[in-house]
Amino acid sequence: MDGHAGCGKSSTAKALANKLDYIYIDTGAMYRAVTLYLLQHNIPIDNQQEVEKELSNVHLSFAHNPSNGRKEIELNGMIVEEQIRTLNVSSKVSKVSSIPAVRHFLVEQQQAMGKQKGIVMDGRDIGTVVFPDAELKIFMTASAEVRAKRRQLEMEEKGQKVAFEDVLNDLVSRDKEDSSRAESPLKKADDAIEVDTSNCTFEEQLDKVYQLAIDAI
Ligand code: C5P
Repeated sequence: MDGHAGCGKSSTAKALANKLDYIYIDTGAMYRAVTLYLLQHNIPIDNQQEVEKELSNVHLSFAHNPSNGRKEIELNGMIVEEQIRTLNVSSKVSKVSSIPAVRHFLVEQQQAMGKQKGIVMDGRDIGTVVFPDAELKIFMTASAEVRAKRRQLEMEEKGQKVAFEDVLNDLVSRDKEDSSRAESPLKKADDAIEVDTSNCTFEEQLDKVYQLAIDAI
């Protein structure tokens, strides 16, 4: 499942995996965790060589969080689900994810996770690069305003107060950077099915992708 920032991919992919009894893998969380690591260690993200050197110190996994029962991303043994969702990380992640060494480092791990099949993976290059032979490819989108409103509500529910304009600017500039980068840009795979969720409730969008999955597998 690929698509624009904040279009509900992650929540839909997670719920779909649950319904299918598949494993859900959030690749955006992996790019965010690498970004968090670089920020925590004051590594200049403009310096590709410095970033590449640091990657051998970044160990990612998805672990069960006993406090909420969810599977969440772990960076070097620490669950960092909350820390990776801040606007600070969001505003730097597209720069980090445009670095070829970072992409190779993470794509290799994502492909290994998918070897056993039975996964729903969401990101930007899953249908084009990570799993070009996936049984089903969905490209999800929604209008930028709808996405920003949803994301703002989501952040507020988690106790992060953010201005609508800041969220909108973050989404629009990430889409632009993600779509225009040289390495694995965000684009719809030729054989992906486009799902526009601008006018859908969450239940409707889940029903839509569930039906597509049932037809495909
Ligand atoms: O999915 P999410 O919005 O959390 O992704 C954060 C960022 O990670 C994206 O804006 C993009 O720069 C990067 N990303 C990527 N390729 C993926 C998943 C995410 O480049 N497969």
